[in-house]
Amino acid sequence: MTNQNEQPGGVLHVTDSRTGRSYEIPIKDGAICAIELRKIKASDDDFGLLSYDPAFLNTASCRSAITYIDGDAGILRYRGYPIGELARRSSFLDVAYLLLQGELPTKDGSAAWSQEIAMHTYVHENVKKFIDGFHHDAHPMGMLVSTVAGLSTFYPEAKFVADPARQREQVVRLIAKMPTLAAFAYRHAMGLPYTYPDGELSYAGNFLNMMWKMTEPRYRPNPVLERALDILLILHADHEQNCSTSAMRVVGSSHVDPYSAAAAAAAALWGPLHGGANEEVLRMLQEIGSVDNVPAYIERVKRGEIRLMGFGHRIYKNFDPRASIIKEVADQVFSVTGRNPLLDIALELERIALADDYFISHKLYPNVDFYSGIIYQAMGFPMTMFPVLFAIGRMPGWLAQWQENAADPEQKIARPRQIYVGHEMRHLDGDLGEYHEG
Ligand code: CMC
Repeated sequence: MTNQNEQPGGVLHVTDSRTGRSYEIPIKDGAICAIELRKIKASDDDFGLLSYDPAFLNTASCRSAITYIDGDAGILRYRGYPIGELARRSSFLDVAYLLLQGELPTKDGSAAWSQEIAMHTYVHENVKKFIDGFHHDAHPMGMLVSTVAGLSTFYPEAKFVADPARQREQVVRLIAKMPTLAAFAYRHAMGLPYTYPDGELSYAGNFLNMMWKMTEPRYRPNPVLERALDILLILHADHEQNCSTSAMRVVGSSHVDPYSAAAAAAAALWGPLHGGANEEVLRMLQEIGSVDNVPAYIERVKRGEIRLMGFGHRIYKNFDPRASIIKEVADQVFSVTGRNPLLDIALELERIALADDYFISHKLYPNVDFYSGIIYQAMGFPMTMFPVLFAIGRMPGWLAQWQENAADPEQKIARPRQIYVGHEMRHLDGDLGEYHEG
């Protein structure tokens, strides 16, 4: 897909067979404006033509300058920078800054930004109390969704969404507090005391500290694992108009505070077809159990009984550029943790699937979630934490998209149309007296 800005303009000539009338619809940036279709009417009192697009398969909902994807060529860029360069040479917090501000920070700017985030990692002590209220086996993603929403009650000024200074405060808080909420959810489930943030550690290092610190006076993250986690967060930081990001934009378009909108985005992410897929991949690999069982499993997928989790993507139809970087990270992590035995099953699944006609003809390739779960598991994260890790990484993307949406004069409250297919008017039994409709 070419950059839409580079596409020539033009005009679409349309003739309506119902009336014989012809229309000219302007083409701009490779798209027609759906509202133009309303001019096409079967009669003068007709509402006008709608475009019907369930699941938004062919509808651009915004103009965005944040992330560029060419699914056929396997290209992903944040603000113009290829994902591979950012993953290898940048840090997650610098990438967050890039997504939000449009440019990478200077060296001093980077240090100041990291310091600012570190200053906001603490959460109000009452947050611990409501985490305490969750059942011991509550899913950490459920706890995260709820606590992110709950933050809005601590920062009532967050409702002033049109105030740039207020907006920025909440952006910093959300990025800073996500690892704290995530680690607290985990420690609650484990019955462990909460570990407070350590401001001298990196963003990823501090998260590992809050997850794993036990009796040692000072937690020192393994630098290879710390860097691996940072890279995984970079790979997840944004992915243009996916389900959770669209949720963030749609919910944010009502001008609700960003905590509530981010909670909605996190809820959307949790589903097994989206960010919950990494958890499902691990369950699938465990269910397969051994390399010998892979061919039979592939046959079940081909019969349509199940889906191969971690395979396929709405946009990438060739390869997912994040998946190849993740494989490099896997090697680094396994050099520290030892090889995850599930890797052999995953490699065999990938080998067979990539040579099989069903997967080739359906353009199904491993996506970002196929290997990330195996790495997370080797690092010690329980499966239920995988979507939580995805959500920590995606938060800067959600916020950048939310800000962009709020600043876009073309945006209004999101409100799709429907095609009504229900009953014509009908009446309850009995006498309705003087009832009039409308
Ligand atoms: N295993 C087997 N068949 C599949 C799979 C799969 N993972 N994904 C799609 N197909 C088939 C599907 O059955 C359909 O076949 P047919 O045309 O014969 O009916 C065809 O491919 C198109 O499927 P679709 O559901 O219309 O495709 P989509 O673009 O709507 O779905 C997807 C994209 C990611 C939801 C889907 O590929 C899927 O369910 N994958 C497994 C879940 C997964 O790994 N999700 C993580 C996505 S990457 C992280 C993220 O961004 O969230």
